[in-house]
Amino acid sequence: MAFNVTIKPSNHGFQMEADETILEAGLKHGFTLPYSCRDGVCGTCKGKLLQGTVNYGKHQKSTLTEAEKAAGMALFCRAQPLSDLVIECREVNVSKDIPVRTLPCRVHKLEKPAQDVMVLYLKLPANERLQFLAGQYIDILTKDGKARSFSLANAPHDDELLQLHVRNILGGAFTQHIFTQLKERDILRFKGPLGTFFLREDSGKPIVFVASGTGFAPVKSIIEHALHIGLKRPMHFYWGGRKLADLYMRDKAMEWEAHGVRFTPVLSEALPADNWQGRTGFVHQAVLDDYSDLSGYQVYTCGAPVVVEVAHRDFTTLRGLPNDEFFSDAFTFAPKA
Ligand code: FES
Repeated sequence: MAFNVTIKPSNHGFQMEADETILEAGLKHGFTLPYSCRDGVCGTCKGKLLQGTVNYGKHQKSTLTEAEKAAGMALFCRAQPLSDLVIECREVNVSKDIPVRTLPCRVHKLEKPAQDVMVLYLKLPANERLQFLAGQYIDILTKDGKARSFSLANAPHDDELLQLHVRNILGGAFTQHIFTQLKERDILRFKGPLGTFFLREDSGKPIVFVASGTGFAPVKSIIEHALHIGLKRPMHFYWGGRKLADLYMRDKAMEWEAHGVRFTPVLSEALPADNWQGRTGFVHQAVLDDYSDLSGYQVYTCGAPVVVEVAHRDFTTLRGLPNDEFFSDAFTFAPKA
């Protein structure tokens, strides 16, 4: 059975099923309500029921007391509707609304989809979840007191494990450590979420994504989030690499095509063994070749600094892309400022 939920003061509304939590359903419809543990423990998701009744769900008694319930409060990560609801809570729509936290995590799984790319799956302690916006990054805090930035590749709704894509950089001490010493069950510490490279959901403009190499990671997070919330804006994803193996999760991008996301892979130095029949050259050039006018678009670019730089320069000067519709995250392989 479906119920209607209205959020005050924004007056945003969505429909939800009786077996969903208010938080789950709100996130699914693109309304980023505050949360942390998603487990009835921390109280971050606490909000007010202005109208309607809920099943409060399993939660820690001290986090939501009987007196608070009597005063109309509920934990939205646990509460399920018993009627139509009007709720009052703050919606998160800019990165500064999300607290930056320092947390430990355990390496749950390591996968090597290409010779020089490692995918890390990180598990947070029980009762902890990381709230973030699709496209943001975290800083892994290393023992030498430095921080190494990596984009989150999973979408916010899919937060059981945090996913990082790491390229093995020649001379990069930390990436060397990841490739040669890091093992499952090791403990890491990180700080996050950070960064302003996230999907602007208040726009209706079509989107072009441009990624080079592991710049794929935050784009993956954004596209999976967009598909999850049923975003209707046209999306075209360009992924550039030197050789075929650099497009290490091509299957994933091809799956998105079935959901309406156009995918254009581009190789600049394909190997004979790649037997490549597709587009060649630089990835930003492929966009220039396909789009004579970007004035009505948003562009999200992530990857090597040189790719981000030329994309910004050429899209704004040659194709009329407004400066403030270009969003980027350059992988500098050093701590970000
Ligand atoms: Fe922690 Fe709901 S109690 S998110």
